[in-house]
Amino acid sequence: MEHAIADSLGTRHVVVTGAGGQLGTALRETFPAARGLTRADWDVTFPPPDLGDVDLVLHAAAWTDVDAAEMSPQDAAAVNVGGTQHAAELGAPLVAFSTDYVFDGTKRTPYVESDPPNPLSAYGRTKLHGEAAAGEDSWIVRSSWLFGPTGKNFVRTMLALGRERDEVSVVDDQRGSPTYVGHLAAAVDEVIHLPVGIWHVAAAGDCTWAEFAEAIFQEAGIACRVRRIATAELARPAPRPAYSVLRSERAGAPELPHWREGLRACLDRLG
Ligand SMILES: NC(=O)c1ccc[n+]([C@@H]2O[C@H](COP(=O)([O-])OP(=O)(O)OC[C@H]3O[C@@H](n4cnc5c(N)ncnc54)[C@H](OP(=O)(O)O)[C@@H]3O)[C@@H](O)[C@H]2O)c1
Repeated sequence: MEHAIADSLGTRHVVVTGAGGQLGTALRETFPAARGLTRADWDVTFPPPDLGDVDLVLHAAAWTDVDAAEMSPQDAAAVNVGGTQHAAELGAPLVAFSTDYVFDGTKRTPYVESDPPNPLSAYGRTKLHGEAAAGEDSWIVRSSWLFGPTGKNFVRTMLALGRERDEVSVVDDQRGSPTYVGHLAAAVDEVIHLPVGIWHVAAAGDCTWAEFAEAIFQEAGIACRVRRIATAELARPAPRPAYSVLRSERAGAPELPHWREGLRACLDRLG
């Protein structure tokens, strides 16, 4: 079966949901023959339309507004749990993307697949329930701190702020692995040759958001200072894990380049 799926990556029978999102865009670039479905094509809170033959589903549609999910947990669940269940109902092998926010962040060494999840936020809870909704015959790819040349993400936000201001305040007490969507999308080709189940796939290296901001300004040649602040100073609605570095303990797991390499690849794309 794995061979058939691998072959099918070059055909039109691969479906990408959330094709307008930052990961969905990278998946479409990596698998140009895949059929990309945006929210306008299929709102995943509804049962799937008739898509004809489907050999593989790359399910990147999600509610990703972490703070808004605290206010509207049922709407977030409709997308992240109901939507994943609907993607599974297509009846094809499924790659479902999940998050480091399923963990509570109390560890100080990398989270591996066998670590017990304990989400702090409504978003994290919906993603964890979404993992279960994907079913046992799916690849659950957990990644972290995604960024890319399109969409709403930290790199694009910092580039915009850094060009306007002399200083930005950025939290320095959350540590993770910023992962370039192009690198994650490329790893999907490896994942589908591996056994189903949970896989942690994140960039090598780790940093805090403040360190990441400094690297962005340095690589982009922007003269903006980073003032390091504590998460509590921001008073955002959703709690975030203080530490959520992901690594795999499973044989054959894809290894991604360092986050700084991902940052340079992203900045190259942005010109
Ligand atoms: N972003 C991160 O830092 C991060 C970290 C770890 C894991 N992840 C996971 O990685 C995956 C991809 O995330 P991303 O960063 O690419 O997110 P994204 O840029 O927000 O893309 C998500 C896409 O899903 C679409 N969508 C939302 N509700 C939908 C619905 N009801 N029906 C159909 N499509 C819908 C969005 O469309 P609209 O633009 O119209 O809303 C958007 O195009 C998600 O599973 C996310 O949970 C993300």
